[in-house]
Amino acid sequence: MRTLVDKIGNSGIVLSPMAGFSDSPYRKLCRQMGSAMSISEFVSTEHLFRSNPKAIQLFRYEESERPVIFQIFGNNPEIILRGVSRVLHLNPDGIDLNMGCSVRTVAGSGSGAGLLRCPDKVQTIIRRLIAETGLPISAKIRLGWNHESLNYMEMSAMLEAEGVWAIAVHGRTKEMAYTGRADWERIGEIARARKIPVFGNGDVTSFAEAQEKIATYGVAGVYVGRGAIGNPWLFAGIDRAALSFADRLPMILRHLDDMRIFYGDEPAAILMRKHLTQYLRDTPQWAQMKHRLYNFRSAAALADYLRSRVQTELVTERVA
Ligand SMILES: Cc1cc2nc3c(=O)[nH]c(=O)nc-3n(C[C@H](O)[C@H](O)[C@H](O)COP(=O)(O)O)c2cc1C
Repeated sequence: MRTLVDKIGNSGIVLSPMAGFSDSPYRKLCRQMGSAMSISEFVSTEHLFRSNPKAIQLFRYEESERPVIFQIFGNNPEIILRGVSRVLHLNPDGIDLNMGCSVRTVAGSGSGAGLLRCPDKVQTIIRRLIAETGLPISAKIRLGWNHESLNYMEMSAMLEAEGVWAIAVHGRTKEMAYTGRADWERIGEIARARKIPVFGNGDVTSFAEAQEKIATYGVAGVYVGRGAIGNPWLFAGIDRAALSFADRLPMILRHLDDMRIFYGDEPAAILMRKHLTQYLRDTPQWAQMKHRLYNFRSAAALADYLRSRVQTELVTERVA
């Protein structure tokens, strides 16, 4: 079995794949801070199959991010295999099959969490991905479609038997979407039963909590999603809440500069808005700054403004 175990970082904490957030600049930053590997957001294999340039762009990455895993979604084994074959030349370290997305347009059409209802199809997809790509293959699942059809034990056993190197489990059902709480007891049940690495996922918002999940539930690691947006410090065990606006600024500027290099000056300023909200909304300065921040169309000008704000703060503090 081809595995990535020897290549991943030893923190065990991983930036969970998130559409619109876990792009190359943010993955790189989180990887530098301690995230154990880089997983792309999910990309449609239908779009890859049609060689859609926007879909292929989503797999751009930098060498420093390795190991790099491309996450894919789809519902047709043939299209999935052909789609993946279009991007193998980009040289990822592994491929991850998304079996967790609960969004209606995805799960309803049998992709993402929709695959939880089709174990035979999953078996075919995984078997072919392993045989035809020669890469380490993993899957990210949920506990089942709903509480009447919890099939995480059967599904994880089958995935292991087929030869995936790892499984990530978001401890909710498809029907729960993001409601309720992730069920870590059930994640622990999977981790105890499987020999391959099992990564747990759901509702973790700090380094300490992730460590506690690893110790309590015997998981190989933890994927952190929402709690890691605007919070690359999490991967280094630094508490963002203890950092002032001025303390946070160097990280934000580093992120913004990478975005500028990666996307260009104007797209970077626009794409950075959703990150800035998460980076700063709990600071006293946020209410006053946000409208201004949302209007910049140049990353360079945005960076200048942020720097000037910190200067003003420092001067005011000195005078006060
Ligand atoms: C904005 C957003 C986008 C997401 N996109 C993906 C995705 O592309 N692939 C995936 O496997 N999960 C995706 N997820 C799910 C997360 O990876 C994660 O499983 C989920 O948010 C639960 O973890 P958390 O409680 O740590 O956020 C997304 C979640 C959010 C909030």
